[in-house]
Amino acid sequence: MESPKQLTSLLHFHFLFLVLCAAHRPYSALQCPNCGYTPVPYPLSTHPSCGNPNYPLHCSQNTLFFLSPTNNLYRVQSIDPLTQRLIISPPAFEPNSCRSLDLASGGLLLDESLPFNISSRNTVMLFNCSSNILLSPLNCSAQSPCRIFEEGGECDGLLCCSYLKDASMTSHRIRVRDGGCTAYTSVVAFREGLGIENWEFGVELQWAPL
Ligand SMILES: *[C@@H]1O[C@H](CO)[C@@H](O)[C@H](O)[C@H]1NC(C)=O
Ligand SMILES: *[C@@H]1O[C@H](CO)[C@@H](O)[C@H](O)[C@H]1NC(C)=O
Ligand SMILES: *[C@@H]1O[C@H](CO)[C@@H](O)[C@H](O)[C@H]1NC(C)=O
Repeated sequence: MESPKQLTSLLHFHFLFLVLCAAHRPYSALQCPNCGYTPVPYPLSTHPSCGNPNYPLHCSQNTLFFLSPTNNLYRVQSIDPLTQRLIISPPAFEPNSCRSLDLASGGLLLDESLPFNISSRNTVMLFNCSSNILLSPLNCSAQSPCRIFEEGGECDGLLCCSYLKDASMTSHRIRVRDGGCTAYTSVVAFREGLGIENWEFGVELQWAPL
């Protein structure tokens, strides 16, 4: 039999244990561990046990990815938690073609039920476009910056167009398709006269704060 005194200290111990657990839990439910060397700032989440599940990213082999609802993985190049922005890599092209690797799933698609969107700092360049898209508000002129990119590549000599992904268009997809345009890339904060060696290739996404 335990004496009342022992019982009290046992209860104390239990209470302390619960307090410590309670103190520990919110901590582990906050920031996710680094993915390789890349910090994963809250509320971004690589695992159900950390971050917020509405902000999912994917960590595989020490590399951080953004997962689209069409199951394409886009590598995360950088994250700025202060401005709630992250930059993902545009997909590569299929070898010896002017076709983005995500062409079969229609290009980049964001889940509209998640708090991510495509920011308005992206200059999107579309390649191998069919002439019927000239009707849309795109810059397909000979001075369009996409001409600089396609030079010497697989898309050279095909119709290309550029546009600023601003608030006038959907901020949840960059569309490519057979019979439209079959490849794309994107440059963040593009400025006129900036040499291609200084272009920041990427698609900048923004997330709504919690
Ligand atoms: C350009 O797009 C068409 C379909 O619109 C496709 O058949 C063709 O292979 C593409 N060209 C290249 C170089 O990938
Ligand atoms: C297309 O872009 C170039 C370079 O930014 C610009 O000089 C030109 O005026 C634009 N043309 C159209 C039709 O918007
Ligand atoms: C994207 O989301 C941010 C944060 O919620 C919002 O401020 C911004 O206006 C949105 N941008 C577009 C182009 O919809």
